[in-house]
Amino acid sequence: MSNSKHIFLCGFMGCGKSTHGKKLAAILKQPFIDLDTYIQKQENKTVQFIFDNEGEELFRELETKYLNELIALKEPHVISLGGGTVCFNGNIEKIKAKGILIYIEMSAAALAERLKKSNQKRPLLKNVSPDNLIEFIEKKLKERNQFYTQAHITLKGISLNHIQLLQWIQEYNTQKNA
Ligand code: S3P
Repeated sequence: MSNSKHIFLCGFMGCGKSTHGKKLAAILKQPFIDLDTYIQKQENKTVQFIFDNEGEELFRELETKYLNELIALKEPHVISLGGGTVCFNGNIEKIKAKGILIYIEMSAAALAERLKKSNQKRPLLKNVSPDNLIEFIEKKLKERNQFYTQAHITLKGISLNHIQLLQWIQEYNTQKNA
């Protein structure tokens, strides 16, 4: 299948954006980039370090700066975004204008299960106790759903089927070119 646009994956931390992005990129034979990894390489600092030492506001500026660089790439890529990328600085408008945005949807309970082991690596979860994790995720999802639900395609993360995903991308491309 040929795809002429970037494909962006969004969704809450832990929903599997990078894992699915890599698989999708391999199937589509498009290069894959993870935005957080790209930021870390360009800045030579971890996301955690940026949050802890320079603050979330600067992280969001960097996120937008490097997102813009990726959007401008001529060759279509599969790009996995950070959990908050689509919620700041009007990023979602540029993303949707230049690519296909896919939202990997997952319930707060499923996300909490996946995140409880990796919360120390994630700056936003560092101070959230395991007992409060579901509640924290539910609250954040409520704030962020207004952005996530603007995606062109929404997929149930738990039962994500790549063949079906490809069909949807193809249908989306066909509609756009009609
Ligand atoms: C964030 C999610 C993280 C990372 C940063 C902020 C968020 O990415 O960008 O810690 O605001 O949800 P992942 O979704 O890949 O964990």
